[in-house]
Amino acid sequence: MTDNLFHKIGGAEAVASIVDNFYDRVIADPNLKKFFEHASMDRIKSMQRQLFGIAIGAPLEYSGRSLSEIHKGRGIKREDISVFTDHLMATLGEIGISESDANRFVSRIAMYVDEVLGETTVDG
Ligand code: HEM
Repeated sequence: MTDNLFHKIGGAEAVASIVDNFYDRVIADPNLKKFFEHASMDRIKSMQRQLFGIAIGAPLEYSGRSLSEIHKGRGIKREDISVFTDHLMATLGEIGISESDANRFVSRIAMYVDEVLGETTVDG
């Protein structure tokens, strides 16, 4: 038994499948696709494989740009984050992650939301 979610769900391979499935949903979403029209999905996916991995306990280093810098000035709102998170939950369900592990996964990713929104307060 391990409490490390990264190992528990199947390590780097599982995270790569999650990221692929997740961004297929994100760029197909009528509310989100406009944000990604000029982005390199290969680059985003490769950075998210690191970041999602780290968030759930992978022994990796993040080599991407700062989350506040990269998302600044794009007009991303809290409701966009909520749609984004719903897609992540749907992906985790489809891939067969248990509901409690999926909730743990999403709550780890939620730790980055303030940086993405450019908010520095932690009480909102
Ligand atoms: C907790 C939520 C989020 C996390 C952890 C996250 C993380 C990331 C990461 C790691 C990158 C790549 C950084 C790099 O290239 O060095 C990225 C890029 C990007 N993200 Fe997010 N993101 C989040 C939410 C969102 C949302 C909600 C949107 C839009 C609705 C968004 C739009 C973008 C776009 C457009 C880029 C590409 C920028 C570019 O290279 O031109 N992100 N994000």
